[in-house]
Amino acid sequence: MQVELRILRYDPERDKKPHWESYTVESGPMDRVLDLLHTVKWEQDGTLTFRRSCAHGVCGSDAMLINGRNRLACKIRIDQLGKKISVAPLPGFGVIKDLVVDMDDFFAKYRSVLPFQIDERQMPARERLQSPADRARYDDTTKCIMCAACTSSCPSFWAKDSYVGPAAIVNAHRFIFDSRDEGSDERLEILADKDGVWRCRTIFNCTEACPRGIDITRAILEVSGAIVERRI
Ligand code: FES
Repeated sequence: MQVELRILRYDPERDKKPHWESYTVESGPMDRVLDLLHTVKWEQDGTLTFRRSCAHGVCGSDAMLINGRNRLACKIRIDQLGKKISVAPLPGFGVIKDLVVDMDDFFAKYRSVLPFQIDERQMPARERLQSPADRARYDDTTKCIMCAACTSSCPSFWAKDSYVGPAAIVNAHRFIFDSRDEGSDERLEILADKDGVWRCRTIFNCTEACPRGIDITRAILEVSGAIVERRI
């Protein structure tokens, strides 16, 4: 079938502002939006710019606004979207070119929550053991692929871009609730800041946008609950 693919294009060296361009692309129902973007780039306009790597929903590099929702271009099928498809860069981020957004601030916020294990104890002879229940405590937030679909869909982030955002909180959660970690207090102190968890208004856009099905709003509430508990 033929699909009409509209893409919001922007080349800072040529364009004053973004504009829509349309492409007619031959597609099968099981093709993904990423396949269509490849067809445009390889057969119609080699200047089209977008990120992608794994093409299997693992690396998180091709999140974009597809038919009005943040999704991974490599996961969403054409039969889920219809014959008219619009593709735009992730909202809330500066655009570098076409579908490529500036992720520097996003990754700086990720780094700010110390997303690594902190453990000053002497190394044991073997690995640190953890019960299945303790491992399950943070299992959901280990699934994050840092695609930014959640942060980019969050109205609190749109309103105040100093907000650390859902993705950073998810990655803090992954370590805060890890029984082997010793850095929880430090992370909770960082997230108790005015641009931390309190900016969440439980709108649930982040949870709906997550291509990995992470219950993000719940994770944020668990982190804010842990801050309150420690302060009491
Ligand atoms: S290209 Fe890796 S998640 Fe889509």
